[in-house]
Amino acid sequence: MKIALVGYGKMGKIIDGIATSRGHEVVARLNETPAAENLNNPDVVIEFSQPEVAFNNIKTCLENKIPVVCGTTGWLHQKPEIENIAKENGTAFLYGSNFSLGVNLFFALNEKLADLMKNFSEYNIQLEEIHHTHKKDAPSGTAISIAEGIIKNNPNFNAWKLHETEKNQLGIFAIREDEVPGTHSVYYRSEVDEIEIKHTAFNRNGFALGAVIAAEWVRGKVGVFSMNDVLGL
Ligand SMILES: NC(=O)c1ccc[n+]([C@@H]2O[C@H](COP(=O)([O-])OP(=O)(O)OC[C@H]3O[C@@H](n4cnc5c(N)ncnc54)[C@H](O)[C@@H]3O)[C@@H](O)[C@H]2O)c1
Repeated sequence: MKIALVGYGKMGKIIDGIATSRGHEVVARLNETPAAENLNNPDVVIEFSQPEVAFNNIKTCLENKIPVVCGTTGWLHQKPEIENIAKENGTAFLYGSNFSLGVNLFFALNEKLADLMKNFSEYNIQLEEIHHTHKKDAPSGTAISIAEGIIKNNPNFNAWKLHETEKNQLGIFAIREDEVPGTHSVYYRSEVDEIEIKHTAFNRNGFALGAVIAAEWVRGKVGVFSMNDVLGL
């Protein structure tokens, strides 16, 4: 498969190595919004760039009928528009707030636990995410996905909020520390005990491998997809 990498920073470079080791050809490595001729006719674009440029990058690729796998976080208010552009152009768009297998299993576990706990008001729920100090957005896209999983399964909440919350809001605490690749915890705390579920990424390799597997899966498909489709969750 021919893969173009749009965004060639920490993630782009690891994806390059993993894609090559799986027998793919990386035909473009770009740190700028692509023009069609710079992409070198790929089967799929993998986009890991920055929140403020992701929309234009993805739009350009989709309008050229190239499927896009996107891991950039912090631009989600524009996702519905991108999904329409993918459909209008008869191509594919796959977004993952987190591409690692472990986190996608954690998402499923989080939803199950939220459903189990919804009637036990003695437990207070709180989310925490820890990332490296270079991260541009807060809360993390992964923390937003976890919060959405709880809100979907627990009618006591209707929104998430960073830090201080009001009634019916789920609080997310975003901590920035040195070189942490990504740690997410959900706490259910009562007067007498605490239940905690936690995912800790040891490095970025799991995210990168998941993105390449998603690119392999999405090739030749038309529509809007997520990692749940790739992993059959
Ligand atoms: N979904 C996941 O699994 C996952 C995992 C890790 C990181 N991320 C997200 O991926 C994104 C990238 O993370 P990173 O750690 O590689 O960041 P990074 O800062 O190391 O790399 C971003 C790259 O984008 C480049 N860039 C700047 N403007 C551009 C443009 N117009 N077009 C294309 N590229 C441009 C920069 O030069 C830089 O090389 C972030 O949003 C991060 O939150 C997602």
